[in-house]
Amino acid sequence: MPSLFDQVALRGLTVRNRIWLAPMCQYAVDAQDGVPTDWHLVHLGARATGGFGLVFTEASAVVPEGRISPQDVGVWNDTQADAWARIAGFLHDRGAAAGVQLAHAGRKASVAAPWRGSTPVAPADGGWTAVAPSAAAFDDFVEPQALDLAGIREIVDAFAAAAVRADAAGFDTVELHGAHGYLVHQFLSPLSNLREDSYGGSFENRTRLLLEIVDAVRKVWPERKPVCVRLSATDWVEGGWTLEETCEVSQLLAGQGVDLVDVSSGGLDPRQQIEIGPGYQVPFARAVREKAGVTTAAVGLITDPAQAQRVLDDGDADVVLLARAALREPAWPWRAAHELGVPAENASYPPNYARGAWRS
Ligand SMILES: Cc1cc2nc3c(=O)[nH]c(=O)nc-3n(C[C@H](O)[C@H](O)[C@H](O)COP(=O)(O)O)c2cc1C
Repeated sequence: MPSLFDQVALRGLTVRNRIWLAPMCQYAVDAQDGVPTDWHLVHLGARATGGFGLVFTEASAVVPEGRISPQDVGVWNDTQADAWARIAGFLHDRGAAAGVQLAHAGRKASVAAPWRGSTPVAPADGGWTAVAPSAAAFDDFVEPQALDLAGIREIVDAFAAAAVRADAAGFDTVELHGAHGYLVHQFLSPLSNLREDSYGGSFENRTRLLLEIVDAVRKVWPERKPVCVRLSATDWVEGGWTLEETCEVSQLLAGQGVDLVDVSSGGLDPRQQIEIGPGYQVPFARAVREKAGVTTAAVGLITDPAQAQRVLDDGDADVVLLARAALREPAWPWRAAHELGVPAENASYPPNYARGAWRS
């Protein structure tokens, strides 16, 4: 059996395979109240049905101002948690594990959905003033307000409170979003963190917020459930956050009870020069796995079953995450099983769909 279809255990969680759905914002909350909708049930549910081992929700804000767009989901109140419980329950019924990505967009908050231009949404139109480590705007976005120490404390507490709700909703794991130029990454990178207090300057200070969030979440999140963290391995800009720092902080994270590091890159600075190609971030996952000794997920243009299997065979990562390929093909794991010679019986088809199984 190709190892893509091997179970993987993280603490008390056993996931049926190593093909996981990456977090993907849907901008589908028309009511702008952060409550996930039928869209999220069907979108995530289809991919759990399609054989993904673990299904991550999109970036889910821990406070209203932490949303990217007014149409983002959240986990800052119980109405949202109740709606998530229905979705997590459906994912479980389909045999998938359920993960929620907890997020705060920082200075990249209050913008329209990509298909509406990703341009700033003014408070009069349902937007808000964004917060950040420093009053330095991303690209041509509105200048954010620099957080004071009390504001930072509130955000740490909000991550913990969201984790409590996520647990009550039945999620098996949380992924703390520390990548793509959102709030935590804004603290990590010297390009966006210009602070002169205990949260800025040295590596120790820039990583303080992330480590405080991990500590706060770990205190309330059940011992038996894993915690994941997504990091951008590099800013792809001279003078930014580096792969070496990613490996170093990953080692600290592992020591503080983080079970998996999901290794992405970029998103912090529009000057980024990303060298895009198949599996372009896989070498970063390998470096983190080797240097930090932590379980890792690789993501980024992993589209072909044989390619995905090679990532595991080569020891680059422990699991693969798919995003765009899963949008066009919700049952990608079924095709992967077929192409890699896994019998349909082992490919997580629901009995209702057995007659449609790929067969040689
Ligand atoms: C529609 C869409 C929405 C995304 N939203 C998120 C998100 O909410 N959180 C996140 O960490 N990454 C997000 N990403 C990035 C993906 O998780 C993934 O890292 C990236 O697309 C590269 O993987 P791929 O080549 O398989 O698409 C998004 C990507 C897409 C295509």
